[in-house]
Amino acid sequence: MATVQIKFLGVDDYDSVAALNHRVVARGDGFVSRLDPGVLSGVLARATGFAVGATSAGELVGYRLVQLPRSADDLLDNRAYRGFPELGDLRFVARFAGVVVAPRARRQRLGSTLCEVALATLRARGILRVITTCHPANAYSLRMLQGLGFEVVGTGATAAGHARCLLSARVHEEARADG
Ligand SMILES: CC(C)(COP(=O)(O)OP(=O)(O)OC[C@H]1O[C@@H](n2cnc3c(N)ncnc32)[C@H](O)[C@@H]1OP(=O)(O)O)[C@@H](O)C(=O)NCCC(=O)NCCS
Repeated sequence: MATVQIKFLGVDDYDSVAALNHRVVARGDGFVSRLDPGVLSGVLARATGFAVGATSAGELVGYRLVQLPRSADDLLDNRAYRGFPELGDLRFVARFAGVVVAPRARRQRLGSTLCEVALATLRARGILRVITTCHPANAYSLRMLQGLGFEVVGTGATAAGHARCLLSARVHEEARADG
């Protein structure tokens, strides 16, 4: 594969992200569902989060979406998210809201790199914890997330009834009460 570039995505990337998402949904990979247009637009506009992408020869070959919830209602499939043990002050919590690497670009650490760039960005913003969900049978994604420091903290289900593992990772050490 040609050289890969990692960059923050913007509103102009909407169609490329949606197309890559649709391709993976059509293949049935990872039990990924179609992206909600409102969530995708908000993230790409940097109004409700941000997105990191990977391009190769001008084509999008990977994305990682990050949502910064302002309230519990902002957590899209919040039925699954209700299972999280105390989320605390949501100003310090981010949600990993979708990651996809194009089949031909997989297993080259692209997914991990996109997540690492997102985690570094969140760390710089003072975020303490990142949460996400994943289908329990999505072994590749679970392994990737665990390799990045995520731990399974419970199980849940989406509003559509699909099973989900609930995962959480510390970005920063929590501020210590004793200073
Ligand atoms: C999950 C996904 C994003 C991983 O992307 P990737 O760039 O291939 O992942 P990486 O190369 O960074 O792999 C990181 C680790 O995950 C595990 N892993 C990923 N793909 C794997 C595979 N095909 N076989 C075995 N282990 C795999 C390995 O532990 C790997 O580390 P290693 O290569 O050092 O052994 C990609 O497979 C994908 O797009 N899947 C479909 C969409 C999806 O499932 N999204 C997640 C929804 S929760």
